[in-house]
Amino acid sequence: MSHLLFDPITLRDLTVRNRIWVPPMCQYAVEAHDGIATDWHMVHYGSFARGGAGAIIVEATGVTPEGRISDKDLGLWNDEQRDALAPIVDFVHSQGAAIGIQLAHAGRKGSFWPEWGEWGTGRGHTTMAIEDGGWETLAPSAVPFDGVATPRAAEEADLDATVGAFVASARRAADAGFDLVEIHGAHGYLLHEFLSPLSNQRTDSYGGSLENRARLLLRVVDAVRTEIGDSMPLLVRLSATDWLEGGLTLEETIQVTRWLTEHSVDLVDVSSGGNAPAEIPVGPGYQVPLAAAVRAETGMPTGAVGLILEPAQAEQILLTGQADVVLLGRELLRDPNFALRAADALHHEDPDLIPMAYHRAHR
Ligand SMILES: Cc1cc2nc3c(=O)[nH]c(=O)nc-3n(C[C@H](O)[C@H](O)[C@H](O)COP(=O)(O)O)c2cc1C
Repeated sequence: MSHLLFDPITLRDLTVRNRIWVPPMCQYAVEAHDGIATDWHMVHYGSFARGGAGAIIVEATGVTPEGRISDKDLGLWNDEQRDALAPIVDFVHSQGAAIGIQLAHAGRKGSFWPEWGEWGTGRGHTTMAIEDGGWETLAPSAVPFDGVATPRAAEEADLDATVGAFVASARRAADAGFDLVEIHGAHGYLLHEFLSPLSNQRTDSYGGSLENRARLLLRVVDAVRTEIGDSMPLLVRLSATDWLEGGLTLEETIQVTRWLTEHSVDLVDVSSGGNAPAEIPVGPGYQVPLAAAVRAETGMPTGAVGLILEPAQAEQILLTGQADVVLLGRELLRDPNFALRAADALHHEDPDLIPMAYHRAHR
């Protein structure tokens, strides 16, 4: 019996073996605070490849030091960082999976203590002060995210530099051998801050109308596309709604996605929220309708993410045309072999998916 979950997908020159993808997930594992990948990253990302995932998207990776959420994030603003990622890319390829990287600027949600803080301190997701090693953050307007430090409103020169930093990081990603690049336009980080009226109060050509609020994202997309050329897929992650009155709406996201279609983006990874505290109706597959609406209204291929937990649930999302790939975050943290388990559960026979030494466990 064939299943869409195990149907390869082709985006530009890349064919991915299946549609069970790993979304970007910050590890806060760079103990040396230098943005350089460690053994943890090799084992963490390598295990998803060994476990049968189609494509793995490496966690939010800062395009500048100030573009990191915390000082334990990965970075890609220098060549040493590129060279540390290359062996991870090679190992993932050796296991038959594809690998991408999420390029990110954290904006006003930067200079945080790593999410879980130092053990026992409970400081996660609060500002790391400059005297503790933190930094001044950048945003569309000098409006702080809930309870954290007030950012500096970006000037035109900051925006030019930010676009340049995305381009330079994308070049390094391509040189390290990554198969695709995802631009982080979600979760209240810089590009989402520009898209959302809750954080963007500018009166220049980057604020006000949706066209203006989307200008920085589209500049980044165009510049990155020019740098990486036509063969490599370019993805964007969006928060489809802020879930708040006066915030970014699904209708606006649909329009932004239409522009992304015209600007050579190949797939939109549809998430939500993160730019201000909101009541989100969390439950199994809760963001799937957002991916479905974006796909139906724009024709853009979509990724669905958010509490996708079971093989049959994942298959059904694809079968009903709501998305082109499914991304499973926390379920893959619990079981990096989810794809192998899904193949067993759906009676999908593919000996090549299973590492040779594991075949005796899958009879
Ligand atoms: C530990 C952890 C780290 C995360 N880091 C990122 C990130 O770097 N970039 C991002 O866009 N989303 C990040 N997310 C969100 C996930 O990519 C995903 O969208 C979210 O967990 C919902 O999917 P799930 O219910 O399958 O986990 C993170 C989630 C977790 C659990």
